[in-house]
Amino acid sequence: MGQLNNRNVIVGITGGIAAYKAAQLVRELQDLGAEVRVVMTRSATEFITPMTLQALSGNPVHLDLLDSAAEAAMGHIELARWADLVCVAPATADFLARLCAGRADDLLCSLCLATGAPLLLAPAMNQGMWRDPATAANITLLRERGVALVGPADGSQACGDIGPGRMEEPAVIAARVAASFESRLLDNYRAVVTAGPTREALDPVRFISNHSSGKMGFAIADACASAGAVTTLISGPVRLPTPNRVKRVDVISALEMYEAAQAAARDCDIFIACAAVSDYRPARPEPQKIKKNGDSMQLEMVRNPDIVAAVAERDNRPFMVGFAAETNHMESHARDKMRRKNLDLIVANDVSRADAGFDGDNNAATLFWPGGKREFALTSKTQLARRLVEVIAQQVDLAGSQEPTP
Ligand code: C5P
Repeated sequence: MGQLNNRNVIVGITGGIAAYKAAQLVRELQDLGAEVRVVMTRSATEFITPMTLQALSGNPVHLDLLDSAAEAAMGHIELARWADLVCVAPATADFLARLCAGRADDLLCSLCLATGAPLLLAPAMNQGMWRDPATAANITLLRERGVALVGPADGSQACGDIGPGRMEEPAVIAARVAASFESRLLDNYRAVVTAGPTREALDPVRFISNHSSGKMGFAIADACASAGAVTTLISGPVRLPTPNRVKRVDVISALEMYEAAQAAARDCDIFIACAAVSDYRPARPEPQKIKKNGDSMQLEMVRNPDIVAAVAERDNRPFMVGFAAETNHMESHARDKMRRKNLDLIVANDVSRADAGFDGDNNAATLFWPGGKREFALTSKTQLARRLVEVIAQQVDLAGSQEPTP
């Protein structure tokens, strides 16, 4: 895997002659595994065409703040959230000044203001402009605000001058992008998460299911991906958007989820079973709609496979995490389930509480593992998912039996 695998990088291009080198930078970042999107200022398009960068990055190039079609596809705030890092190369003297002033009248400046991601700038300008006290003051201010810089290099310039102001070489900038990321908790791990309910067909129009919203599983998949894991989310029918960087496999029934889980478990270091799988399914789903007939009807149900327990039986099994919804004797019931299903860790929810659970946005949980326990008070499912991933990462490291993939 590349150093930038699973990382989203925005390359911002402003209007300087070095803009042509941005094409090479996009390639270098992709070679390191990054997902790249390009944002250009209008003046940058005078130096290199958006078409070139679209072809290289494999994504539409973002140009305008006020383009309703582009905003509908991925608006500037969405872009700002998508980015793990914004690298502006080349960054002109004008762009540096606009950034210092907090301008928001074009897409790139707005994005830099809106994003919480780190900014890395590769300045490029004439040596006189670089040495000018105004530029020097802007650089000092940007550094104070935590903006990182790479270059500029010294040497001969397009205008014929010799001195500092050349944009650093794309390979050097790409290496700085890679070095900007600290290693994350689940870097180089592969996680599979099951989420949501399953539907068990009675006939072509009816099914048996439950109220699981999938929110907890989706939050966990999101947290795994944010922690660096290559993440697959196997989801029953839910109405939720796919988290960034997560590969989603949609299934309907427990049997489909079982097949998808077995396939995904082949390339998996951590398996987190969050789905509310139907324990039984109708023995003989009718091919045609069942007609009303008499005052009662009998339905024969057969047991569904236990997905998490089946994955835990595999040779080279992943680190196994299951969930337990309990109403009483939480610890003993949860630990018993952990042993029966051969799990490494279990997340127990007290489903007798009114303020947590299936469909809400909040949850509380207690985690149990052999020899350990950790309690998390009621919080958002997003926050809880992050905390769970922290504990899972610690336990996976301690278990040591699952070597990270090379
Ligand atoms: O046995 P119980 O349904 O209480 O176990 C809950 C845990 O087992 C959850 O992690 C759930 O995702 C998983 N499970 C499963 N396949 C089933 C039933 C439960 O993976 N058929």
